[in-house]
Amino acid sequence: MKRHSGRAYTNRPISEEMLHSILEAGRWAPSCSNTQAWNFVVLKDKESLSKGHEHLSKGNAWGKAAPVMILVTAKEDGGCPSHGLPYFAMDVGLTVQNMLLQAVHLGLMGHPTAGWNEAGLKEAFGIPDDQRIVTVVFFGYEGDFDKLDERNREKEKNPRKRRELSEIVHWNGW
Ligand SMILES: Cc1cc2nc3c(=O)[nH]c(=O)nc-3n(C[C@H](O)[C@H](O)[C@H](O)COP(=O)(O)O)c2cc1C
Repeated sequence: MKRHSGRAYTNRPISEEMLHSILEAGRWAPSCSNTQAWNFVVLKDKESLSKGHEHLSKGNAWGKAAPVMILVTAKEDGGCPSHGLPYFAMDVGLTVQNMLLQAVHLGLMGHPTAGWNEAGLKEAFGIPDDQRIVTVVFFGYEGDFDKLDERNREKEKNPRKRRELSEIVHWNGW
């Protein structure tokens, strides 16, 4: 319940130890047949971050304040092939959730996103053609959301919502 995708980051840097611990948490995620489809392109130097910021959607401009941006990539056929399902995406989801929870454990906030230009990011950071960027995750300390623009400030005030268990759980059959 402490994990949330907030948008108010401070630019306070996060320590190398913390970053390492987040990446380690990601590395130890389960994956289909232990294929570990994920790769992490970690942007933390000023120039790399600025280059990355150029490819964010307008709606994700809040991410520019975060001191770390991780592009999580995988080959589309890089997971295991069971049932014809794209398990690479599940592997990536699990590694990202591990990283998000580790960030919370360390007193930080992580926010996964899908709003950015994949081709632009791939070219800017030399990501091979056969890799897809599945998500870009921001990490850092949470700041004061009064400093956000009005639209994002309102979003931060909205209570987190989920479908009720009664809508999604099917006991002893659908
Ligand atoms: C795959 C994925 C893509 C997302 N893309 C964005 C995004 O581009 N911009 C954004 O502000 N939030 C994005 N989010 C965050 C979701 O909006 C957020 O997880 C959801 O509203 C639930 O809120 P919570 O994480 O605070 O519980 C994304 C989350 C996921 C898992």
